Amino acid sequence: MRIVSGIQPTGNLHLGNYLGAIRNWVRMQDEVAAGGGLSLYFLADLHAISQPHVPAELSANCREMVAALVACGIDPDKSVLFNQAQVPQHAELQWLLNGTARMGWLNRMTQWKDKAGKNREGQSVALFTYPVLQAADVLLYQATHVPVGEDQKQHLELARDIAQKFNNDFCPEDAPVFTLPKPTIPPEAARIMSLRDGNAKMSKSDPSDMSRINLTDDADAIMQKVKKAKTDPEPLPGDKAGLEGRPEAANLVGIYAAMAGTSVEAVLGQFGGEGFGKFKPALGELLVEQLAPINARFNELRQDQAALDAILAKGGAKARELAAPTLAATYQALGLLRG
Ligand code: TYM
Repeated sequence: MRIVSGIQPTGNLHLGNYLGAIRNWVRMQDEVAAGGGLSLYFLADLHAISQPHVPAELSANCREMVAALVACGIDPDKSVLFNQAQVPQHAELQWLLNGTARMGWLNRMTQWKDKAGKNREGQSVALFTYPVLQAADVLLYQATHVPVGEDQKQHLELARDIAQKFNNDFCPEDAPVFTLPKPTIPPEAARIMSLRDGNAKMSKSDPSDMSRINLTDDADAIMQKVKKAKTDPEPLPGDKAGLEGRPEAANLVGIYAAMAGTSVEAVLGQFGGEGFGKFKPALGELLVEQLAPINARFNELRQDQAALDAILAKGGAKARELAAPTLAATYQALGLLRG
């Protein structure tokens, strides 16, 4: 097994990232190490420049994100933890795959449509070709499994299409260059929604900080955000079917279940018939209890910039080494002479 996944170092790590992806990264890191496989986790800093950004903030966010990932349980001695910018092969492979990816495929990407909105002509070319870089990220390391939240599924399907077409077009049938990666999406918590709108995904780009729980929030902030979370006036139902048409209630119950490591049914078994006046404080306390140790560790780790840079330097060196054979095979398959 070869696990590869990434996160954009824009802003804070939030509960959606944690439950949708990072918690799975940690679990898979341990599983894969026990089985003799390897996991690679990276900061998608090259992706972050596809939209307007402030350079000094990007470097600061990269260091903060390494601290946050380590605080969540990513162990730089077990996983290869790095940032794309230190591994030029990502950008190189993207260029080589640009010859295989199709405009029509990229035009169908919902994230491109959402981010570009009505102003497609005004977007950077990087925002449009973003999914090709994402394909390069995983194909470069022959990833077998890619742990992500639901919103990245379409990008992973595109990576498979690119790999398949490249293998068909340029490789002998018995010697494909690329492995087709599988997305690993958690059954619960695949899509954590905003605390202000049960129909919008929890996201770092939401202008309202009240819409998300950041892993850097202290206990007061967490309790406050949960207390103010949008809900409806009805008490909680006794079963899952009763959550239908109640997106905010479904989201809060889903978060509780994911944090407690139990099912939605079990949470409703406990809280069915209760109002939010009782459920919200219980949810807030559960979040505070589980996030407090992460928060404390994060605050410790972020102080030592040199140590964070050293983690990225070590991970970058290892990633460059691991990337070399696939990149060489790609050049060769395309008939490009490299001396
Ligand atoms: P990013 O930085 O938006 O998110 C990182 C991970 O968190 C998951 N996630 C969520 N899961 C559940 N509920 C939510 N509300 C929520 N918000 C975010 C995402 O699905 C993701 O797994 N393009 C990617 C980064 C990337 C990448 C890659 C991922 C670049 N190259 C290669 C996998 C493989 C992104 O912007 O994720």
